[in-house]
Amino acid sequence: MCGIVGYIGQREAYNILIKGLKRLEYRGYDSAGIAMGGDNPRIYKCKGKVSDLEALVENLDFSGNIGIGHTRWATHGEPNDVNAHPHRSMNGHFIIIHNGIIENYTKLKSGLENKGYVFESQTDTEVLANLFEYFYIKEGSDPKKCVDAIRNALRIVEGAYGLLILCKDVPKQLIAAKKGSPIVVGIGDQEYFIASDASPIVEYTNSVIYLKDDDIAILSDSGLSLINLKNIPQTPNIHKLDLSLDQIEKNGFDHYMLKEIYEQPRSIRDTYRGRLNFESKFLRLGGLFNVFNDLVNADRIIIVACGTSWHAGLVGEYLFEEFTRIPTEVEYASEFRYRNPVIKKGDVVIAISQSGETADTLAAIQLAKRAGAIVLGICNVVGSSIPRETVAGVYTHAGPEIGVASTKAFTAQVTVLTMMAMAVGLANKNLTQKEFEDLVEELYLIPDKIEKILEKADYIKEIAEKVKDANNALYLGRGYLFPVALEGALKLKEISYIHAEGYPAAEMKHGPIALIDEKMPVVVLATKDPSYDKIVSNIQEVKARKGQIIAIVTEGDTVIRNLADFVIEVPACDFALSPLLTVIPLQLLSYYIAVMRGCNVDQPRNLAKSVTVE
Ligand code: M6R
Repeated sequence: MCGIVGYIGQREAYNILIKGLKRLEYRGYDSAGIAMGGDNPRIYKCKGKVSDLEALVENLDFSGNIGIGHTRWATHGEPNDVNAHPHRSMNGHFIIIHNGIIENYTKLKSGLENKGYVFESQTDTEVLANLFEYFYIKEGSDPKKCVDAIRNALRIVEGAYGLLILCKDVPKQLIAAKKGSPIVVGIGDQEYFIASDASPIVEYTNSVIYLKDDDIAILSDSGLSLINLKNIPQTPNIHKLDLSLDQIEKNGFDHYMLKEIYEQPRSIRDTYRGRLNFESKFLRLGGLFNVFNDLVNADRIIIVACGTSWHAGLVGEYLFEEFTRIPTEVEYASEFRYRNPVIKKGDVVIAISQSGETADTLAAIQLAKRAGAIVLGICNVVGSSIPRETVAGVYTHAGPEIGVASTKAFTAQVTVLTMMAMAVGLANKNLTQKEFEDLVEELYLIPDKIEKILEKADYIKEIAEKVKDANNALYLGRGYLFPVALEGALKLKEISYIHAEGYPAAEMKHGPIALIDEKMPVVVLATKDPSYDKIVSNIQEVKARKGQIIAIVTEGDTVIRNLADFVIEVPACDFALSPLLTVIPLQLLSYYIAVMRGCNVDQPRNLAKSVTVE
């Protein structure tokens, strides 16, 4: 969480910082700030969005060729002007911005207070700034020892950080350090662009270095040098960015979320492109080549993830158990890591994450690795931490997802899980060649079917108009559609702030049915599948209590049309693939409801795109 951006070179840094912060705002947006370096260091910061920061500095001096900027998602200390980054050390030697959490900050802070340090903010970041200064002064305030001071301070720091640091006494230098939180350094022509992800960098260069944990990058007009915390020089690995500017722009859509919903036919095709061949009925997941036999022979599969990725994992559980008969469990990464789970050598753990930076998922991976499991990743962001922490995996290739509410990442994750389960099912002979080939055909046609659902957007908007004032909503589904019910409810609550619950349809009568009255919209996932008759009964139960029924049905369904208040048709498909279709109307429904309620769809309150704190 939190976006950080920095620049050092010949250009005016301010424009690069502000543009970069706008691109990073999806990572946090409760306050923003910049510091201009050089001979006359200045900090400007305020509570609010990057646009508030722009208004603040409008008539002030923001000139300079070195600068750092931050957009915050509060952890320590409420969002206000003082807690906003950058933070300056007490005697003004250091100015820093930070993404992550310093876990031993209380102890460090009281140690510094005992040495006379006084703090202005409630942040852990200010503790770091003062810690750097303490070591710097202790070493004689020698500018040549500035990096040593930072390095020695970081050696006693516990927790996670992505840091950009300016030292007043070394005005033509910018320092970046990483542990746990991502830092990317873009290499230009005698200039460097630094950020917490590549989105602010892609406009200027596609040559980047992803810092590793414990790396410290020292950037100045004489170039870049890379060391680690032990002062051992590191060789920078330069990567080419596979990202274009139009992938991170709205391209005419009102919101990123809407753009990303509409991208799904393309993003699913990109996810299976080169892996699934319709003509030859060929399926190959290159990223799993070295571990495929381990997966086929796994005693158990454990999927770990958070939020929407966890919902995709739940679909994965159904897919793996049906296609492969390998026992599969899905765990919230945050629970898994703290409850001493039983993990054995023959277990395969699959971590799913859009961002590849979710702190709980990373911690769950580390735990599983220590226990001797084979840990695989399904991830969207290339080069992020999760692919680097896992032994093998599959990228989803959905393209950058910027809307805080995850949409195309979900369908891409489910596409990958489907392909994995199909490949393993064929290999362990739980799927026949015919069943496998039918699934290849079905999966191949999913993007065309999604196009057809997207054509119903205006009708879904009309439904949204009718239910937008509800205070609560219920989402029901069975089998493969239970995770979709959970996902639909999550989408609604996170962007429209309507309380919503997802339930297995049959569980409704064990409690939630008490909530149903004429004010309660009940979204029922009711496609023609093995439990169709049962779901029709569930709809009857809702109707008897006067709930407003919005049913997602298979094209041509006449039975439910006579029962429901609103019916959204989706094309027929194999039940196992139905999450990929049925989730689309739910995404659109939440989107339109949120817009009609005047909510900030792309930046919902209290949320941030990647949750890099535990
Ligand atoms: O980047 P990840 O997939 O690991 O993120 C997991 C969750 O934080 C994420 O899915 C979150 O629940 C979204 N806001 C849901 O729309």
